[in-house]
Amino acid sequence: MGDNAKFSINGENYEYPVLTGTEGPDVVDIRKLYGQTGAFTYDPGFTSTASCESELTFIDGSEGVLLHRGYPIEQLAENSSFMEVAHLLLRGELPTADEFSDFNNTITRHTMVHEQLRGFYQGFRRDAHPMAIMCGVVGALSAFYHDSTDINDPAQRMIASHRLVAKMPTIAAMAYKYSIGQPFVYPDNDLSYTGNFLRMTFGVPAEEYEVNPAIEKAMDRIFILHADHEQNASTSTVRLAGSSGANPFACIAAGIACLWGPAHGGANEAALNMLHEIGHPDRIPEYIKRAKDKDDPFRLMGFGHRVYKNYDPRASVMQETVREVFETLKVKDPVFEVALQLEEMALNDPYFIDKKLFPNVDFYSGIILSAIGFPTSMFTVLFALARTVGWVAQWNEMISDPGQRIGRPRQLYTGPTKRDYVPIDKR
Ligand code: SDX
Repeated sequence: MGDNAKFSINGENYEYPVLTGTEGPDVVDIRKLYGQTGAFTYDPGFTSTASCESELTFIDGSEGVLLHRGYPIEQLAENSSFMEVAHLLLRGELPTADEFSDFNNTITRHTMVHEQLRGFYQGFRRDAHPMAIMCGVVGALSAFYHDSTDINDPAQRMIASHRLVAKMPTIAAMAYKYSIGQPFVYPDNDLSYTGNFLRMTFGVPAEEYEVNPAIEKAMDRIFILHADHEQNASTSTVRLAGSSGANPFACIAAGIACLWGPAHGGANEAALNMLHEIGHPDRIPEYIKRAKDKDDPFRLMGFGHRVYKNYDPRASVMQETVREVFETLKVKDPVFEVALQLEEMALNDPYFIDKKLFPNVDFYSGIILSAIGFPTSMFTVLFALARTVGWVAQWNEMISDPGQRIGRPRQLYTGPTKRDYVPIDKR
C-alpha cells in the first residue's frame, strides 16, 4: 500500500488509503469519503471507478493483455478447452486430469432441462428474437430449481452455477430450433460440451449428426474468448442484482438482458449486419466518413472499447479462427474481405488512431458464426452462453465476500427544489 491520497474540499483536508493489487492501477479507497466530507464522487460511466475486488480476470487495455486467473487468453485459446477454462474460473485453478473428469461429468449430467420448461417456448411467436426467449426462459429457471436458490449455502451456489453453465447450451439450442420450427434435440452425454451444443443446434431426429471436429474446436475457442471480462456492463448487472440477494437464475437473466444491447454483446450481430450493409470494399470510405461524423449516430460496430486502447487480444485470435474455419469449410465470404479492408483503412485513419479505436471481440465473431450456420439473431445468444460461466464465477466471488453489501449508488440531483402542491384549478 502506497502513501495516502490527499483530498481537500470546503477548506478541509482529508486522506484516503491507496490500495495496490497484484496487477493494474492502484485504487483510492473512498468508502469513508461521503461520511467525512458530505460530498459524493461523480463518475456516470464508471470510467474511473473500481466497483469491487476480484481475482478472476485482468485486462491491461493499453498493452492488449487479458488474463484469466493469470493465464493469457492467447495460451488458453491455443491449448485449453472451454470446460477447462470454466473450471479455472469457477474453482481457481486449471484442473488435474481427475478434477477435469469430475467437473466435466458434473456439467454433463446437468445438461437436460426440466421437461415442463419446453412449454415456455410455445408462448413466444416463432419470429421472437432468441435473446427475448433467453431472458424469459433463463429467468424462469428459478421456478424449477428451488433446491439451489439459497445463496448463503455454498453447496447450493455451486449446484446453481453448474446448472446454469450446463443448461445454457440446451436452452440456446432450443431457442434456435423453436425459431426455425424444428423439434428440440435432447443432449447427448457422450459428446463434449461444445459438440453436444452443435448437435442440439444443427442435428435433427431424422438422421445421425456427425460433429465436425474442426468446427467443434473453433466453436469451443470462441466460447473461451467470451468466458469472462472483468466488470463489463452485463457482469456489473449480475453483481448488482446479486447484491440484493436475488437468486442466481434471476441474476443471470438480468445479465442476459444487459448483454443484448448493441453497445455490448449485441455488437456482434450489429457488426455483421454493418459489414453486409457495406457490401463491397469500394463503399468502406463512405462508412468511415459516417463513423467520424459527429452529427451521424452511426458507429463502426465491433470497433472501440472502454478498456482496450490497443488491439483486443480476442479479436486477433478470432481473425485467425476465421481463416481456419474458412479453410475447413472450403468457403469464402466476401464479407471477410470487407472486414479486413475496413480494419486496415480504419487503423490507418487519424480519427481511429487518435481515439485508439481498434477491432474488439465482436468484429470478426459474426463472420465465423455465420459460416458455421448460425443466423445473426443467434450471435448474442452464443455470447451469453459462453459468458454465463464468467457471470456465475463473478457472482460467487461477490456473494462469498464477507464484506459484501447491497449496491446502491447515489446521484447529483439537478431537479426542482422543494415546492408546494398546486390544485388543478390553480395551474
Ligand atoms: C463488448 O466492457 C467490456 O469488456 C465489453 C466486452 C466484454 O467482453 O464484455 O468486451 C464486449 O461489449 C465489446 C464492445 C462492443 N461494442 C461495439 O463494438 C459497439 C461500438 N463501440 C462503441 O459504441 C464504443 O466504442 C464502446 C461502447 C464499446 C465504448 O464506449 P466508451 O468507452 O463509452 O467510449 P465513447 O463512446 O465515449 O467513445 C469515445 C470516443 C467518442 O468520440 P468523442 O465523443 O470523444 O469525440 O470514440 C468514439 C466516440 O464517438 N467512438 C467511435 C466508436 N467507438 C467510440 N467512433 C466510431 N465508431 C466506433 N465504434
